[in-house]
This record gives sequence, C-alpha cells and structure tokens, in this order.
Amino acid sequence: MKPFNPLSSLCFVCILLLFANAESAKIHYHDFVVQATLVKRLCEIHNIITVNGKFPGPTLEVNNGDTLVVNVVNRARYNVTIHWHGVRQMRTGWADGPEFITQCPIRPGKSYTYRFTIQGQEGTLWWHAHSSWLRATVYGALIINPKEGEFYPFPKPKRETPILLGEWWNTNPIDVVRQATRTGAAPNISDAYTINSQPGDLYKCSSQDTTIVHVDSGEINLLRVINAALNQQLFFAVANHKLTVVGADATYVKPFTTSVLMLGPGQTTDVLIKADQQPARYYMAARAYASAQGAPFDDTTTTAILEYNTASCSTNCVKTKPVFPSLPAYNDTSTATAFSTKFRSPRRVEVPKEIDENLFFTVGLGLENCPRGAPSSYCQGPSGTRFTASMNNVSFTLPSNNSLLQAHYQGISGVFSTDFPAVPPVKFDYTGNVSRSLWQPIRGTKLYKLKYGAKVQVVLQGTSIFSAENHPMHLHGYDFYIIAEGFGNFNPKTDTFKFNLIDPPLRNTASVPVNGWTVIRFIANNPGVWLMHCHLDVHITWGLAMAFLVENGVCESESLEPPPLDLPVC
Ligand code: C2O
Repeated sequence: MKPFNPLSSLCFVCILLLFANAESAKIHYHDFVVQATLVKRLCEIHNIITVNGKFPGPTLEVNNGDTLVVNVVNRARYNVTIHWHGVRQMRTGWADGPEFITQCPIRPGKSYTYRFTIQGQEGTLWWHAHSSWLRATVYGALIINPKEGEFYPFPKPKRETPILLGEWWNTNPIDVVRQATRTGAAPNISDAYTINSQPGDLYKCSSQDTTIVHVDSGEINLLRVINAALNQQLFFAVANHKLTVVGADATYVKPFTTSVLMLGPGQTTDVLIKADQQPARYYMAARAYASAQGAPFDDTTTTAILEYNTASCSTNCVKTKPVFPSLPAYNDTSTATAFSTKFRSPRRVEVPKEIDENLFFTVGLGLENCPRGAPSSYCQGPSGTRFTASMNNVSFTLPSNNSLLQAHYQGISGVFSTDFPAVPPVKFDYTGNVSRSLWQPIRGTKLYKLKYGAKVQVVLQGTSIFSAENHPMHLHGYDFYIIAEGFGNFNPKTDTFKFNLIDPPLRNTASVPVNGWTVIRFIANNPGVWLMHCHLDVHITWGLAMAFLVENGVCESESLEPPPLDLPVC
C-alpha cells in the first residue's frame, strides 16, 4: 500500500484552489504597439514613445481573477519591456517585465506576449515600460474590478476617473538619462508635471488641453490617483473638497478622510470625492514633495479641473477661474508623514509573526570617486565625483547578456551571485554625519536567496549619505505589510514596540521617510527573481536596487512556471 503523503494531498488542495475561480474569469487580449508618436506640449512638438499612439497609454480594465494576454510589438528604436506594476505574478515571473531581471529586452522590430492572471487583487494598479527611462511616456492605468457579482466595500460611485500624475521633459528623456550616465552628474529636472498627460493651465500653451473631470452636484466619484512621475513624490489636492481614501496599490484600506494626498512614484491611491460644494470649477493640483535638502527639483504645479456640470458653459461664455486648492510646502515632511501613517487594513490581517529572515537594508545615495585616468567630463558630480546609490553598500548593476531569471532557471553561472548582505557590511550612524570614507559603495549583481515560504522582515533604513531623502521602495512580485516607520536610526530595542501586527496596510511601494526607516513583512510564496528598488528612476539608474531569488516550493503549484516560448533572447 502506498504510504499517505501529506505533501501530495497538499498539492492537490493547491490545484483545486487554482481552478476554483476559473468559471467567471475572462481572458483579455490586447495589442500594445510601442511606437514613436508626435505630441505637442508646452508649445513644442516632440516625437515621444507611446503605446498605440496614446498618451497616457491605454487603460486596461479587468476583474479580479481574469487573465491578461498582451502582445507587445516594438516598433520604436529603443529596447523595451513592459512591467505590470503591483501585479503579484504568482509563478509567472516571466511576465513581470523589468529589463535584464525577468527577461531580456524586446529589441526593435521584435515582440513578446505577456500572459498573467490577476489573483486576489482589487483596485488600481498601472503598467509602465521598465527599460531605461522610457516609462516617462510609456505608461497607463490597470483597473481591477471585483469579480462578477462581488462589490466594492463602499457604495458604488457614480463615476470613476483615473488620474495619472506624470512628469514631462522638453527633451527626449532617454537623452536626459544618457547624458547623466555619461557625465556622472544629476540628470536635468523635468519641465512640467502632468495630469492624464496634460500639464494644465499654469503652464504655457496648455490651457486649451487641460484635463477636465465632470461631476453632477451631489454625486460621489472615485478618483484612481496614480503617481507615474519618474523622479518625484507629489502632493495632490482638490480645492474645497475632502478626499476619502478607500484603497491603495490595489488593496482596500480602512477609509479615512484627508484634504491632501502624498504619493511616491509607483504608488496608487483610490479616493472617493463627493460633489457637495457650490456648483463651480475647482482645480485639482499636484506638485512636488521634495524631501532632499538643497537638491534642485521641478517646482511647477500641474492642474486639472473638477467641473460641476451645471457650471460648465459652451464655447462662447466666459468661464470663471477655478478655485485653487491649498497645497503643502515642498518640504512639508510632517504632512507627508501624517498622511502615510494613517493607512490601515480594513480589518485584522494575518501578519507573519515568527520571522525566518530578519533583514536590514540601508538605502541611500553615494558618490563614486573618479576612476583613475577618466576624463573630467566623466566625473561631473559633486567635487569631481560621480553620483551613485546603493542598498547595503552594493550599487546594483544589471547584467547585459542575460536576464537574472533566465540565468537562474537554466542554471547559468557567472550572471549573478547570491551574496547580497543581510545587514550592512559596516554599522554606522546611518542618519548622522556619515564619514566620507563610507560614501562609495561597491558595484555588483548580488541577490538575496529566500526559501519558499520564508517569513521575511526587512528594515529599510534611509541614510544621510550626500543627502537624505524620502525613497519610494517598490518590491516586484509581492505585496508587503508596512508594520512601522519612523525617523532616525531604527532601534530594535525601542522601535519593535511600535510594530502594528494587527491591521497594517498592504502595499507594493513604501515611502521610506527622509532620514528614517520603514519595516515591512511578507511571506516568500512566489518563486522567481524579484527586483526591489527605489521607484525614483534617477536612483535606480544609480544602483538603488537589489533582487530576491525565491526558490521553488515542493509541488508544482509552488514552482515557477516554465518560460514562454517567445521569451526574448539577449
Ligand atoms: Cu513600477 Cu520596478 O517598477
């Protein structure tokens, strides 16, 4: 007689679960043609890279449980990949998208089909290019509705509007980052922020095309706010209107009311807004939350207009000037903190308690000394250095001849190592006056290996090296609980008591406070190679990233799927 095998019966349960919801689930097919497109912004015509000639790109709308099949055809002159930001990608790491992490880039003239299923996520996510700085113009919303027959945990709003906050350069963003890489200097700051790709009234040549959001008096609308900006955290507010936050990063939150939002790049926030004011026109506006002291930033303000239908008028009448909201000062860290610490899960959640992996990662900038013999044009950073950035003193370098996931799957050695340090190699006063000798990290493609199912805690500790600032840290392939945040150096003796193990929010991107820390927890139940990085693209360019290698579990349903046949080769 065959002995009872508890593992195989466990697998049987996983397989049952896999198919349990297959009935009402749909498959959505899309074609994404990445191409150069002429657009006019700020009085100038530019040839930008778009998807299907749309800017912002197409909104994808699905139900929880549905499958997306997106055929990406690259008709641009750059390599490209598309990342589905925040999608869990259970076992489908091949569809995650970051260039040289889970796939080689789609070369000009080539194509690749992303296939993945949305599992247990509801709300707002987005998609964006994950190759160089292409995401400056290659991005769009991904809206996940509840399953058929299921509902929001709040009354159904009358209308829903995606609000994509973006960042615009009057030059080709690829040239901006290339120049920065050539010189080692900080890249040029942007020329405008945008709402649904329009800068709005406060910029030149922009008032005709300002985004208008119509409302009827008394109705409740759902704004799905997405920070798709490349390099800037943004405050967002609507004049005279309160915002009730109901979700973030495709997870519901315990509703709370606020007059201002702060989103780091990568983050989404779903808010209900009630049209309960005088029928009139009101600005919605976004501008920088710039936490780095003294660093140059784009201090312009983007606007859209919330227009009550009874207050709109046809072409010949004089429109009244919209009311302007009050926005926090650029460096208003207390408002940013008050906002980010309001987030809670709607009810008690299962936070991993016994931790298998207790990790401590520093995140911050650095300066690299000019290599011997290099021309001074190569070292245009502060006092003849080059800007760099690191986690635990490793400045992350992408491989160029393979993707990490392919190298892992095929057992190819020499592409990466698995010696990313669990703690900083040197302990120091992270947020104090850091000795100049600790400013230069080493370069490397180092991964941290996790056993399937490991319960992981990561303390993300900001540093004050060169300049402290808020870092929006994003983890691919996972959502994590943010159990605490604070200022200064994390102290396990005193700060552990602040952990919220009852109802912490579940996010895919955490704002690590300027000169402070954030603690996250997750269970490593998704095998593959998963990038963790600062979502300010300037910082990822400088190496503020690392990756987890999560091993397969026991049965097939706990293992990475085989790669698709059309996976690009390097
Ligand atoms: Cu929104 Cu690595 O990505």
